[in-house]
Amino acid sequence: MATPASARTKIACYIKREKMVKICCIGAGYVGGPTMAVIALKCPSIEVVVVDISIARIAAWNSEQLPIYEPGLEDVVKQCRGRNLFFSTEVEKHISEADIIFVSVNTPTKTQGLGAGKAANLTYWESAARMIADVSKSDKIVVEKSTVPVKTAEAIEKILNHNSNGINFQILSNPEFLAEGTAIQDLFKPDRVLIGGRETPEGQKAIKALRDIYATWVPEDRIIATNLWSAELSKLAANAILAQRISSINAMSALCEATGADVTEVAYAVSKDSRIGPKFLNASVGFGGSCFQKDILNLVYICECNGLPEVANYWKQVIKINDYQKTRFVNRVVASMFNTVSGKKIAILGFAFKKDTGDTRETPAIDVCKGLLGDKANISIYDPQVTEEQIQRDLSMNKFDWDHPIHLQPMSPTAVKEVTVTWDAYQATNGAHGICILTEWDEFKALDYQKIYDNMQKPAFIYDGRNIMDVEKLRKIGFIVYSIGKPLDAWLKDMPAVA
Ligand code: UDX
Ligand code: UDX
Repeated sequence: MATPASARTKIACYIKREKMVKICCIGAGYVGGPTMAVIALKCPSIEVVVVDISIARIAAWNSEQLPIYEPGLEDVVKQCRGRNLFFSTEVEKHISEADIIFVSVNTPTKTQGLGAGKAANLTYWESAARMIADVSKSDKIVVEKSTVPVKTAEAIEKILNHNSNGINFQILSNPEFLAEGTAIQDLFKPDRVLIGGRETPEGQKAIKALRDIYATWVPEDRIIATNLWSAELSKLAANAILAQRISSINAMSALCEATGADVTEVAYAVSKDSRIGPKFLNASVGFGGSCFQKDILNLVYICECNGLPEVANYWKQVIKINDYQKTRFVNRVVASMFNTVSGKKIAILGFAFKKDTGDTRETPAIDVCKGLLGDKANISIYDPQVTEEQIQRDLSMNKFDWDHPIHLQPMSPTAVKEVTVTWDAYQATNGAHGICILTEWDEFKALDYQKIYDNMQKPAFIYDGRNIMDVEKLRKIGFIVYSIGKPLDAWLKDMPAVA
């Protein structure tokens, strides 16, 4: 018996929906780009379109030179771009066609008004929500991918529902836990995927729809469903606790220098306690990146708003120690060079906030360079992934201005003239008085330090802000070496730094 036309249409629609779920992700950045590329790779029957207001960024995603450096990313993108992964500036069209919309736009720290210096500025999120409401003609699941303050989902839900024209929106919080430099591996094998949603039948159905996508490659027991607020807070909590471990060991590093203990030995001994474990206990010049400081500031603000000043102060201290660590490092450099670096060439090896990324957001290198420039040093910078334009922009930008779409960021009026940027470590160190290692790039360990020493001013100093160098070998060559949290050279002991 022939199927009636209406039933055929229904089946066709059903098949279409079942076969081709459409995902649109707003924001083609460090989070949106890699996450969507991996979903497209793992789910060939889903069409994934990543949209962005930045024409240049989308053009780069569609080119041979991707806009971000991330090991393994190019391979994933090449496998599915043009197949079921697309990058586009047609924001409204793709939002309108999508079943599931991920939002991964910037959430800068406010620099003015209520909550300035702490609270998140949700301007971009709000405008994304309004656009979704405006252009949607069918029901949609809207997924929070950006890190946002707790209760953002509720605000977004209100915007969507007050402008819905009868369309049903389900909002989910699906925070991303990838770390840069290992993003692809983290996405392939996440420790957990967290999905927060409403506890209503519709909310649970939306959670299931997203769970089914991840379950294509993530074991079911690693997919955790919670309520919306728990998911939002879990992301802030995870980042705050990770950052707190770093500040804890960095605080110990100062005490190690004062007492003659070695922070690496202390960290190792501590890490052997199975309740503590080894990760995130590397003392450093300080943590950076787009999340840790911002998320903690967010947490602090939320605590204050909820009448919890003691809790707010506890988390504030994690950032204070991080700032202290950067200042302490600069003071060591300046103090050991007879209390002045004025007119002296200082080489900076590494500007990215960690190795294997070209990302410089909140990198400790910015504060260290600014500190040295404040003492009138001439700085020569080498980083294998960071461009001169980016470095100049970072050094002239105001605090928190980095977290805006690039075309809205303030441009540097004039380049900082005491700063030169090279693509060669030997050139950067040639004729320098001192070298600061600020990113743990593997290639820095393999440089010819005898050659570097021979071409430097004497005494020649190395300040290892990442504890990656073989200190004894460097001392044998003739360097005066400072390593975070390690027993001090006699030279440094004689030139105490005010912290
Ligand atoms: C991360 C997190 O997701 C977020 O919580 C944080 O606030 C910023 O950092 P990430 O992908 O690393 O996001 O940020 P970024 O690389 O800056 O990407 C955001 C993208 O959104 C940019 O390409 C920007 O052009 C785009 N965007 C921003 C839009 O497409 N529309 C907007 O209205 C605003
Ligand atoms: C972090 C979280 O790890 C990730 O889960 C979240 O999604 C985003 O924020 P990311 O900022 O990309 O990821 O890198 P991460 O490896 O966490 O490093 C952050 C900073 O801490 C870097 O500057 C790194 O050098 C520093 N760090 C890390 C230390 O100084 N010591 C350590 O032991 C570990």
